[in-house]
Amino acid sequence: TSPAAPARRRVLLAAPRGYCAGVDRAVQTVEKALELHGAPVYVRKEIVHNQHVVATLRERGAIFVDETDEVPEGSLVVFSAHGVAPVVHTEAAERSLRTIDATCPLVTKVHNEARRFAAQDYDILLIGHEGHEEVIGTSGEAPEHIHLVDGPDDVANVQVRNPEHVVWLSQTTLSVDETVATVGKLRERFPALVDPPSDDICYATQNRQVAVKQMAGQCDLFLVVGSRNSSNSVRLVEVAREYGAKDAHLIDHAGEVDETWLDGVGTIGVSSGASVPEVLVRGLLEYLAERGFGDVEEVRSAEETLLFSLPKELRGMKEQRR
Ligand code: F3S
Repeated sequence: TSPAAPARRRVLLAAPRGYCAGVDRAVQTVEKALELHGAPVYVRKEIVHNQHVVATLRERGAIFVDETDEVPEGSLVVFSAHGVAPVVHTEAAERSLRTIDATCPLVTKVHNEARRFAAQDYDILLIGHEGHEEVIGTSGEAPEHIHLVDGPDDVANVQVRNPEHVVWLSQTTLSVDETVATVGKLRERFPALVDPPSDDICYATQNRQVAVKQMAGQCDLFLVVGSRNSSNSVRLVEVAREYGAKDAHLIDHAGEVDETWLDGVGTIGVSSGASVPEVLVRGLLEYLAERGFGDVEEVRSAEETLLFSLPKELRGMKEQRR
């Protein structure tokens, strides 16, 4: 034990954390498809942005591809939780693929907003991270109307046709604070800017950020379980740092913890992104308990009860097999 170690070692465990309703539904969709159809089931892109989930489904017979042209004609393909552009549906139909769309209904909501505002000929300022699958999918709904705004520093680069007829939408997994800042800057440039009809940043993203904000100031170290390409997980690390955690790291699993991070630490905050199975958090808590951090206190800031029903294509499949 380091002589500098504080007397009380404890873990503050954020709640809510981990799986959201959209991820739960997407993972179950692939599991059900495998169960009803048998392997292989093709999945376009990572079903959710988590290494463990993807590896587990791969072992059960899912084949992950980047594009539908890698899927043999006539096969079954699942579209990931992040959503796809309409052109992907067209391409799949051209190759006679059978499709199951596991797009999160809260992403579909943003697609619907994009279509509606495009039909009213708005310039749509989509706040999001360049290259993220969700943003590519949403932009594909109306490429000629949608302009990507990648954070407050990108606002100066935006070009619109008519500054009097602009609306903003966003990716579902952004930092709430940064998005407020981006919208503020957009409104300075475009005072007529119209707000989306409801929040595009989803309930799960918001709740996980609120939970981390509540605890971060008490934490010497904050560990967020999540994969590098998981937008909402990366945001949680940023939020922990901004709200006072002395140190914060993103880890895929306990094996990625560097023991030196624990030196002299009293309170460790733990949370996990919306695509992270609880088993990985349990593994981290065990690892920490073995190193003197067995005292775990859950800090709950919201209750979550939302559940989505499985995609309709799957319900159809189930009936066919009976
Ligand atoms: Fe959907 Fe939000 Fe999860 S958009 S997939 S509920 S992170």
